[in-house]
Amino acid sequence: MSVVARGLSHAYGELRSLESIELEAQPGEVVALVGPSGCGKSTLLELACGLREPTAGTIAVEGSADAAGRLSHCAYMPQRDLLLPWFSALDNAALALRNRGAGRAEARSRAGELFERFGLAGFEGARPQELSGGMRQRVAFLRTLVAGKPVLALDEPFASLDAISRAEMQEWLAGALRADGRTVLLVSHDLEEALYLADRVLVLSARPGRLVKEVRAPDPRAADRDGAVTDPAFVAAREEALRALREGAHRGAAAPAVPYDSYMGIRNSSEGEEG
Ligand SMILES: Nc1ncnc2c1ncn2[C@@H]1O[C@H](COP(=O)(O)OP(=O)(O)OP(=O)(O)O)[C@@H](O)[C@H]1O
Ligand SMILES: [Mg+2]
Repeated sequence: MSVVARGLSHAYGELRSLESIELEAQPGEVVALVGPSGCGKSTLLELACGLREPTAGTIAVEGSADAAGRLSHCAYMPQRDLLLPWFSALDNAALALRNRGAGRAEARSRAGELFERFGLAGFEGARPQELSGGMRQRVAFLRTLVAGKPVLALDEPFASLDAISRAEMQEWLAGALRADGRTVLLVSHDLEEALYLADRVLVLSARPGRLVKEVRAPDPRAADRDGAVTDPAFVAAREEALRALREGAHRGAAAPAVPYDSYMGIRNSSEGEEG
């Protein structure tokens, strides 16, 4: 197993962000995380990458449960692209390699080989402010990929794009992930994006985030996004995920205001009403 979480909970002081998460990702599997804003998705990626520690339970990546081990196996693409403004696109992309001890020339040459494949050829010397939003995200993604880690943690990689660029980037990423075969944890707000890119979609409730549903993406899917998302099996999977998302948003909302025991009572009684 590439990523395994068992009874994983996390809190920022008094604020409980994640509760009792059970998660497994097989090598090469793409697992998407969806859930209401603030339910702990980014926190979960940061836990996987060893940037935070669980309050309870465990998370292991490639068999390492300690933070340093998790960090060494994960490449993280944060929610904001975090390119260094004074570095060229190429130096930004080469950063992960340089952090691992490669010399500047070697890092630039290895990152540079990928510029063509990422549709960035000719922009090696451009500064981030001279690139479009989609290009910046591709540079950030390229940097994540060249880090050479077995697990990629991608936090809303297309959040800042318009609908057209977003669809193009999704097709592009689907192809890149198929060719790459690495384990991916992908956070998304967009169910279509999640089901198109991932093998499985995990739906989290409102904070504290708990897993409320797992939806398997239809297989096989058309390579082109429009073809994939209009398939009846895809539409049914999206409906299933959307229902879980709505129920989870409703359920979690009562959680922070009342003590845990009474929250359980509220949850059980609302379950009864629904049934
Ligand atoms: N460094 C921090 N210190 C304190 N609280 C934090 C910190 N980071 C996040 N939080 C809180 O933890 C909760 C979960 O945050 P997180 O960023 O993981 O949510 P998210 O699911 O990624 O949300 P979004 O979809 O808006 O990106 C939020 O209520 C947030 O306010
Ligand atoms: Mg987030």
